[in-house]
Amino acid sequence: MKNLVILISGGGSNMLALARAAERDDWAGRYQARITAVISNKPDTKGLQLAQDLGLATSVVDHKAFSHAADPRAAFDAALMADIDQHQPALVLLAGFMRILTPSFVAHYQGRLINIHPSLLPAFTGLHTHQRAIDEGCQFAGATVHRVTAELDHGAILAQAVVPVMPDDTADTLAARVLTQEHLIYPKVVAQLLSR
Ligand code: GRF
Repeated sequence: MKNLVILISGGGSNMLALARAAERDDWAGRYQARITAVISNKPDTKGLQLAQDLGLATSVVDHKAFSHAADPRAAFDAALMADIDQHQPALVLLAGFMRILTPSFVAHYQGRLINIHPSLLPAFTGLHTHQRAIDEGCQFAGATVHRVTAELDHGAILAQAVVPVMPDDTADTLAARVLTQEHLIYPKVVAQLLSR
């Protein structure tokens, strides 16, 4: 079986889209793949509740618990790796996971680490992508599924989806339009990777 581990930090709508696609499109039968864990760096997120409601295994590696370590980021990543590696993942899927990962974490999952970012990369890496697209007067925005490298939001692009920016858009209305596309392209990319 190919084990899939999903990392989240909040609402979990992309995790839900992946889990529903795995069920609807029979990833277990077609690709011998299953979602074995949903891991959050924050306790009590909506995404954890959604995963538990689907009967998926969940765990929390709270980054705040490492704030007093000599190197909090490295300590957190080491604990996260230990949790993930229990599942011997074929793929680690970042889905609304809002932590910048260390180069050693990225190297450990080289070729198995995938992320979805709410902009048309390479434009608007980082945060507040929708407001920045509106502020720049962009007429189109979108989302990108990409491989994760040590350079934030810079890995090889696997898929993109484009949406129009409407004259009266706010960051929230644009985010909602982009999110609907995210929920379509992320499962499609994962299915393609699993079919290889
Ligand atoms: C999404 O736009 C995702 O691209 C970004 O965080 C947003 C929320 O994702 N990283 P989710 O609902 O938690 O999956």
